[in-house]
Amino acid sequence: MTFAMKKLSALLMLLLSASLLLAACYPTRTQPFGTPIPTLVPATLPAPLIGAGGPAIPRCSVRAVDLLGAWVTAKMPEADPFDFVDSQGQACQGTFAGDVLPLFSKSNLWYSGAASCTSCHHQDLTTAFAQLNLSDYVGILAGSRRTAPEAAGNDILAGGDWEKSKLYEVLVITKLMPLNRPADVPEKGPLVSAGAPK
Ligand code: HEC
Repeated sequence: MTFAMKKLSALLMLLLSASLLLAACYPTRTQPFGTPIPTLVPATLPAPLIGAGGPAIPRCSVRAVDLLGAWVTAKMPEADPFDFVDSQGQACQGTFAGDVLPLFSKSNLWYSGAASCTSCHHQDLTTAFAQLNLSDYVGILAGSRRTAPEAAGNDILAGGDWEKSKLYEVLVITKLMPLNRPADVPEKGPLVSAGAPK
């Protein structure tokens, strides 16, 4: 082989490998597929809305124990709103369904990794701990250690006398609940957003 031939074959090899590489990177498509991806994002996105399409409602922030206390002190209204003062000293209003019940039914609320109260205190009294159902209004008011679904139990709300109640005792005094809670849960529980300014 002459030097020129060597050079030529080297060039050919280079061209061949370059075209193979191109073919690998850009396979020829026999059929068009997919839809084109829009490259432009609409310039103005509508402001995010909270709730069912309504305007965003400013919420209050309050410690879970203070919120529970306000509801119990207001004599546990089921449908009517109740007043509370939030952590900024703001006069606010909340409701049982919107603000109180989630304190019992949400997991990860009292601390990260917390089981919800209702995972242990649920509707089926044969398996619910302390025969207490915290999953609905009637159950919460019916109390603990119930012998049958229609039976009343021990009032855990002390008829509205918050600091005398069993609920206050297990949350604030003995700090037993939520069961297995770590020592660093704040005395008044987590700060939650609830209700709305009055
Ligand atoms: C992992 C299961 C578990 C979770 C979660 C749990 N509890 Fe309990 N709870 C128990 C057990 C077990 C007892 C009974 C303790 C005893 O016999 O002294 C109990 C007892 C209670 C009692 C006392 C009832 C009585 O008459 O003695 C109250 C009130 C209570 N829990 C409220 C709550 C609340 C509120 C939460 C959530 C913040 C919660 N619990 C989360 C298991 C649980």
